[in-house]
Amino acid sequence: MSQEIQDRFKQFVAPTYGRFPITLDRGEGAFVWDTDGKRYLDLGGGIAVNCLGHAHPEISQALAEQSAKLLHCTNFYYFDGQAKLAENLAKRIGPGRLFFCNSGAESSEVMIKLSRRFGQAEGRFEIITAENSFHGRTMAGISATGQAKVKEGFAPLLQGFTHVPNNDIDAVRSAITPATVAVMIEGVQGEGGIHPASAEYLLGLRALCDEHNLLLLWDGVQCGHFRTGSFQSFQSILGDQIGDFLPDAVGMAKALGGGFPMGAVWISEQHAEVLGPGTHGSTFGGNPLACTVANKILEVIDRDNLAANARELGQFFVDELAKLREKYPVAIREVRGLGLMIGIEMGDGFGSFDDSKTASVQWVTALHETGMLTIPADSSVVRFLPPLNLTRAEAQAGLDMFEQTVQKAIE
Ligand SMILES: Cc1ncc(COP(=O)(O)O)c(C=O)c1O
Repeated sequence: MSQEIQDRFKQFVAPTYGRFPITLDRGEGAFVWDTDGKRYLDLGGGIAVNCLGHAHPEISQALAEQSAKLLHCTNFYYFDGQAKLAENLAKRIGPGRLFFCNSGAESSEVMIKLSRRFGQAEGRFEIITAENSFHGRTMAGISATGQAKVKEGFAPLLQGFTHVPNNDIDAVRSAITPATVAVMIEGVQGEGGIHPASAEYLLGLRALCDEHNLLLLWDGVQCGHFRTGSFQSFQSILGDQIGDFLPDAVGMAKALGGGFPMGAVWISEQHAEVLGPGTHGSTFGGNPLACTVANKILEVIDRDNLAANARELGQFFVDELAKLREKYPVAIREVRGLGLMIGIEMGDGFGSFDDSKTASVQWVTALHETGMLTIPADSSVVRFLPPLNLTRAEAQAGLDMFEQTVQKAIE
């Protein structure tokens, strides 16, 4: 069954993804089962999407009820779910308004269009982003992304993007030209291998943007939605130093819909009318199903104190992984994390591994054999992006499997 499905993929599905040879059938909570009945502990969370795990009964019920009531409604009309979600999200960030879309790349697109429109009258259009960043796969997304590999073969790209070293305020300052209109960053670089921005950098960026009338664009697609223990990662990073810090726009997707495809951008009240009537749109953006799911997810996260769970379990993971690093320094080189966004820099060159693949892919493959799903990043990082409602026992089970895998690899 599993092989037959994979064969049909090879024949009929465009080969844009490198897929692991696992065919999934169903999921429940933090676990998934493949078509042969093998169970995996899912610490990858569909790349930070399944924030309430798999098949959450309240999500399924909300989705079913809404689908029987109003499945789709064009943005020519009003409906309660979108108003409720916009209010709900704005209250968690600050005074501002929401645009709804369907993915992370589209949320980057909105922030880029916002900047173009904002700077248009003065001929400003350049956006500074970080090296090793990731902002999606559309033409604007790959132009904004600070990684050469996503751009290869797609020239000419969208004009006006400059990439500077991450967390380096002097580099941003030096890259500003009379045409600069915005700075765009991820609070914690995800695809780049889990690299959090520092508090000093964020405060420095806000001051620099204010000084030069630049928009500060926040890509919270992967690091947002309580993953770091607060709604947005700037709240986790700045903590008591937050003061009145706010970006000018915040992009969201992934966990916002918990698996239902959706994205959103919060735009500060000051700039909320830059994208006026007719300047942007999306047929499906913020549709009733998406908004119903997103509202339910926020309700469950609040009720079940999952922000605190993300902080506590995140700390538990980092502490335990640091102990494993001391025990196996050749295999585990560094542990980085903020809440439940954890990156483990792994060693390479072990006998049983296939050297034609990156160390991150080799380790993720070895972890599959032991029975857990994780996500590779960069060339040597294994990411844990588990559901926010993971239990301590499940986290411990994951750590045990991780240790077993390491032991086996270095034998
Ligand atoms: C920080 C960040 N921005 C944007 C995206 C693109 O999101 P999507 O794949 O939903 O278009 C991703 C996806 O991994 C991401 O991590």
